[in-house]
Amino acid sequence: MQTELSAIVLAAGLGTRMKSRKAKVLHEAGGQALVEHVLDAAGTTVPADRITVVVGHQAEQVRALLAPRGCHFVMQTEQRGTGHAVAMCRGVAPENGWTLLLYGDCPLLTSQTIARLVAAQQRSGAAATLITTVLDDPHGYGRILRAEDGSVAAIVEQKAATPEQLQIREINSGIYCIDSELLWRHIAEIEPNPASGEIYLTDIVEILRRAGKRVEALVLEDASEILGINQRLELAEADRILRARKTKQLMLDGVTIFQPETVAIDAKVEIGQDSVIAAFTQILGKTKIGADCTVGAGTVIRDSVIADGVTIGEYCFVGTSVVETGAQIGPFSRLRLENHVGAGAQIGNFVELKKTRFGAGAKAMHLAYLGDSLVGAGVNIGAGTITCNFDGANKHTTEIGDGVFVGSNSTLVAPVKLEADSYIGAGSVITDPVPGDTLALGRSRQVNKAGWVQRKRAQKPSKD
Ligand code: UD1
Ligand code: CA
Repeated sequence: MQTELSAIVLAAGLGTRMKSRKAKVLHEAGGQALVEHVLDAAGTTVPADRITVVVGHQAEQVRALLAPRGCHFVMQTEQRGTGHAVAMCRGVAPENGWTLLLYGDCPLLTSQTIARLVAAQQRSGAAATLITTVLDDPHGYGRILRAEDGSVAAIVEQKAATPEQLQIREINSGIYCIDSELLWRHIAEIEPNPASGEIYLTDIVEILRRAGKRVEALVLEDASEILGINQRLELAEADRILRARKTKQLMLDGVTIFQPETVAIDAKVEIGQDSVIAAFTQILGKTKIGADCTVGAGTVIRDSVIADGVTIGEYCFVGTSVVETGAQIGPFSRLRLENHVGAGAQIGNFVELKKTRFGAGAKAMHLAYLGDSLVGAGVNIGAGTITCNFDGANKHTTEIGDGVFVGSNSTLVAPVKLEADSYIGAGSVITDPVPGDTLALGRSRQVNKAGWVQRKRAQKPSKD
């Protein structure tokens, strides 16, 4: 039978080396906070109510971010070291089975590797198993000291290592699977490190050995998974790796992505089969894109839902909007905020929509602003149409019924309603309601003055 698993995630530190006012684990890579990636990896093997997160710096923000997952939190007010952080979890973290100890600043760890760690512990019957790897440049990491029998004898931190120990290239990833009963029996025995005064979790290895227990290592050949983020160069590197993983997975699932190294797609984005994503696009947040869609170069889509068969051209922005089947957007369109674009609708260049419901099959092909508007099905919005939705104090709604034709360069002063199948003459300023089946002209009549040009030219030039 599989031993029951629980997990402790350390996420209390400020991360001094980030030189930031923001807690390190809240910094984002691959479109979500570092600690979210760790919880994603742990969450596949460990039930949420057996995960305990140690919070400290910006505890409220970390809690708010993770609480919806259903995990537990422990407050570490003073960051006295990783061993101290784990010790704080006594009484909250489960005491049976095995505990995974994870650091919130290691976002590249995958659930497959966690499963391998657990399997290694199962096979060896050790008290604890930890993940190590061999690095060309081990600087900053704890070094692994091996015993004669090949098991792990101790971990020595960079700050506490002798010059000979600093030559060791096998490093501690900070990912451990440990017998929970032994963890809670021995965790309080860790003494503050004489060099730094911190309580190092890594000292648990020697303590277990002194108690006659064995600690083993799972040596990873791919070191990229255990990159710990301590400063911003590493943050950028993690971001690059996470995004490469994401585009690779999407391509394996049937999405075409050109020049994937130029594309930024966030961790939780979903894209359907046979959609084509051009170079230099960004698809962010909780965006879902259907099948058979096209996203043109330079386009940014954030937190939006795009149905099947939608074409979004080059250099568009789509934010918190819904676009229905077969609609065509862009190039150069801005769907700024909370829009709903109906099936088969067309939005062209330099058209901005804000909080607008744009009906099925409606068109706004060039140079328009539609804010706080309800646009019916089959409406034609002429080039240069502007809704005046803001009176300096309040926002007002413009209602445009099905089948309305709005002539070019019209100004619709909200609140105003154009009823179904009305027709607005080009260049009109519309301030009053327009009944259905009616032509509205809101401009002065044209005057032609015959012969005026000749007379003007015949006038003698003035002397001055
Ligand atoms: C740690 C390991 C080191 C390993 C490296 C891998 C220790 C003593 N050292 O070093 O062997 O090679 O990770 O990346 O464990 N934290 C708390 N409370 C604290 C201190 C830290 O919650 O009091 C959290 C931090 O927020 C961070 C994690 O623990 O998410 C690791 O702490 P950090 O200071 O980054 O440890 P490293 O020096 O990188
Ligand atoms: Ca670290």
